[in-house]
Amino acid sequence: MADEMNQGIHSHEEKPIHRREMSRRQFLSYTLGGTGGFLAGVPLMSMLRFSVDPILQKKTAGDFVKVVEETQITSEPKSFKFQKHQVDGWYESDPEFEAWVAKGSDGKIFALSPVCKHLGCTVNWNNNPQYPNQYFCPCHGAHYTIDGKNLAVAPLPLDEYQVKIENGFVYLGPVEPNTRVK
Ligand code: FES
Repeated sequence: MADEMNQGIHSHEEKPIHRREMSRRQFLSYTLGGTGGFLAGVPLMSMLRFSVDPILQKKTAGDFVKVVEETQITSEPKSFKFQKHQVDGWYESDPEFEAWVAKGSDGKIFALSPVCKHLGCTVNWNNNPQYPNQYFCPCHGAHYTIDGKNLAVAPLPLDEYQVKIENGFVYLGPVEPNTRVK
C-alpha cells in the first residue's frame, strides 16, 4: 500500500516533469518553425502585395491603340482622336488623345502630339495664312514645321507618338520627345 502510494506519488511526480519536457520541446519546435515560416513568408507576402495592390505596381509602358487604316494616311497631316485605357492606382479612366498623323518624306508614317511645347495649348495644321503648311498655336503664336520643329516662341519641337503598323492599321503608343528633328 505504502509502495503503491509511493508509486502513485512517484507517478504523480513524474507526470508533470514529462509534460513539462514535452511542452518545452513543443514550444521550441513551434517557435523555430514559426520563425522560419515567418521569414519564408515575408518575400511571399511582399510579392502578394504587389500583385494585389495596383498602387504598388510599377507602371508599364502604355499599350498601343489602333487608330486608323494605313491607306488613309498621306503626306498631308490629318488629325485623329482616340481613347486610351489608363490605370493609375485604383483609378481607371479612358482619356481622349489627339494625334496629327502623316507620311514623311522617308515614306514612314509618323504622328505628332498637338500639345504646344510653349504652355500646352493645342496646335492646328495649316490654320494660319501667315504660316502656310505649318502647325500654328493660337495662344501665343508658336509655329512648327511639318516634322514638328519649333520655329518660334516654343522652346522644343512637338512630341511624337510611338507608331506601330500592323495588318494595315496604324497603332499609336506612348508619347516621346521628337525624333524627326535635330
Ligand atoms: S501655348 Fe502655344 S504659343 Fe503659347
